[in-house]
Amino acid sequence: MTTAEAYARFANREVRGVSPAYERLSQAVSRDREVLALLDRLPPAKRQPNLLFGVVRWLGGPVEDPAAFHDYTVANWPVIEAQMRVRATQTNEAGRCAVLLPVLAALPQPLALLEVGASAGLCLYPDRYAYRYGDHQVGSGEPVLECAASGLALPTRVPQVVWRAGLDLNPLDVTNPADMSWLDALIWPEHEHRRARLRAAAAVAAADPPLLVRGDLVDDLPALAARAPADATLVVFHTSVLYQVPVPRREAFVRLVRELSGHWVSIEAPEVLPYDGLPTPPGEGLHNVLALDGTPLAWTRGHGQAMTWFG
Ligand SMILES: C[S@@+](CC[C@H](N)C(=O)[O-])C[C@H]1O[C@@H](n2cnc3c(N)ncnc32)[C@H](O)[C@@H]1O
Repeated sequence: MTTAEAYARFANREVRGVSPAYERLSQAVSRDREVLALLDRLPPAKRQPNLLFGVVRWLGGPVEDPAAFHDYTVANWPVIEAQMRVRATQTNEAGRCAVLLPVLAALPQPLALLEVGASAGLCLYPDRYAYRYGDHQVGSGEPVLECAASGLALPTRVPQVVWRAGLDLNPLDVTNPADMSWLDALIWPEHEHRRARLRAAAAVAAADPPLLVRGDLVDDLPALAARAPADATLVVFHTSVLYQVPVPRREAFVRLVRELSGHWVSIEAPEVLPYDGLPTPPGEGLHNVLALDGTPLAWTRGHGQAMTWFG
């Protein structure tokens, strides 16, 4: 896929109807030869829309108006390029716990949670957040995670979590203002509710920090899994991570996680973690697949705002 195609696809598939500002920007970049030529100097994995837009936001540049964005990007390319080379998209979305909850609450309790690609670890607190599925509420506290869910028996309790650990190539620390400013910059411009959710979830994590280990999801998973308490159900999970992992390493990870005792919960795009015989997604735009132990269960939206259980 060319860089132009990647930006057009991001506009049509990921941000249409979800972030009008980024839809405008990504459509404009897909036709902007000057900016595309600059992006093509970067390694392919560093050309992503989320990374470019996140860096420009983090630098304080304009992301609402495509013409202003173009001028700023061209004028400031050396600093933008330098930041894109050292940063990665590490969006940490606590809202994804709303689509994890039905699976986690149904497993034998208590749970030992091990998240690979954990970023700052905000998805490691499904027991501390509150949930609203339409009129159905579960749990208490902040943040309250709203999810439009259909086709499933909704959970009636939060899980009991006795151990929580995360593995990431570059763990972020919610008590570090520099890390928080990057997490904030990665949130799409109009999404003030997600900014408030980031702050509320960060307060939960700061009050009881998770064990976050710097490492690779293949090479370092067995050693971290071995630290989980034996009298809890080990759950290895990941959400929106494997698209950042080269295909042979994804395959190695799947082989490894299947060999571990306990359960494996994944939320990934279907082209990243494919399954046979998936039903048609319930609408346009990117839908991820929630799966338990390799069995697909539901379509989920990117930030946990909706889920449709398979019939
Ligand atoms: C898009 S973020 C998602 C974070 C979190 N799972 C969530 O849903 O909020 C992907 C994370 O995966 C991490 N990552 C990418 N490749 C990895 C690898 N090989 N091993 C461990 N972590 C990895 C990145 O550093 C990043 O923090």
